[in-house]
Amino acid sequence: MRRIRKAVFPVAGLGTRFLPATKAMPKEMLTIVDRPVIQLAVDEAREAGIEHMIFVTGRNKAIIEDHFDKQYELEETLRKRGKKADLALLERDLPMAGQTSFTRQQEPLGLGHAVWCARELVGDEPFALVLPDMLIHAQPGCLRQMIDVYETQGGNVIAVEQVPWEHVSRYGVIGVSETKGKAMRIDRMVEKPPRDKAPSNFIISGRYILQPQIFAKIENQSPGAGGEIQITDAMIRLLGEQDFWALKFDGTTYDCGDKVGFLAANIAYGLDRSDLAPTLRQALKTILEKTGGL
Ligand code: G1P
Repeated sequence: MRRIRKAVFPVAGLGTRFLPATKAMPKEMLTIVDRPVIQLAVDEAREAGIEHMIFVTGRNKAIIEDHFDKQYELEETLRKRGKKADLALLERDLPMAGQTSFTRQQEPLGLGHAVWCARELVGDEPFALVLPDMLIHAQPGCLRQMIDVYETQGGNVIAVEQVPWEHVSRYGVIGVSETKGKAMRIDRMVEKPPRDKAPSNFIISGRYILQPQIFAKIENQSPGAGGEIQITDAMIRLLGEQDFWALKFDGTTYDCGDKVGFLAANIAYGLDRSDLAPTLRQALKTILEKTGGL
């Protein structure tokens, strides 16, 4: 079984739901407390042992590349001021030279197409796919939990969670048959089904471990939901040839593509920080009292 060494991060989306914040700044650089959303996704991948981060970007996203590079002027200023803790933090977060690659999705043709743009960088080996918008608060991280399943079952592994039935039409949805250890065998998948066509209320949570044969499926995939080339449709065709396992991971998801999900993530991650939690808790209490309570 081949080790998962590479992760693909599709970050070409326009972020129109967050205008005007995302007019000049990529949505992936919006911060959860003091870390950009994309940094948290990379943190999760590094914790899972991923060595190579592949970003599929687009126009106006160059700042993401700068974020994962050295910043000499800033570092020099911090050094002169004796800010050792800040310097150590920047150093810790910096991927090693050669551990990041960037390619562009030239047209917004869909998530499947974005993944396909990474085919040459991934090559002929299984890889992780991480959608940064779906922020998963978990210990160990969601990708680590998935790699544990992959190492026993092989094949393809998809992170899933249950949502209220009225939300299934926003997501990819799976159907399962047998259960093997922590994993459930996937026997159906459908992208953004109406509620009465959904095989379950288990949705695809934005984390995948995929075999490289997916690229050939995407290559001749016709557009699906929303007129876009969907990764789910390509996975459905691979399902006839390979195993797909679903992992109901331990953790909490914040859909940061959604305003309330993004705000909730900031509160949850803030409350998780011992340096911030007491004052944040007090501030939340005051706000709630002033605005009529819960
Ligand atoms: C994508 C996938 C969908 C998945 C979702 C998770 O949809 O196509 O299967 O459930 O991400 O966020 P999108 O959010 O790009 O519409």
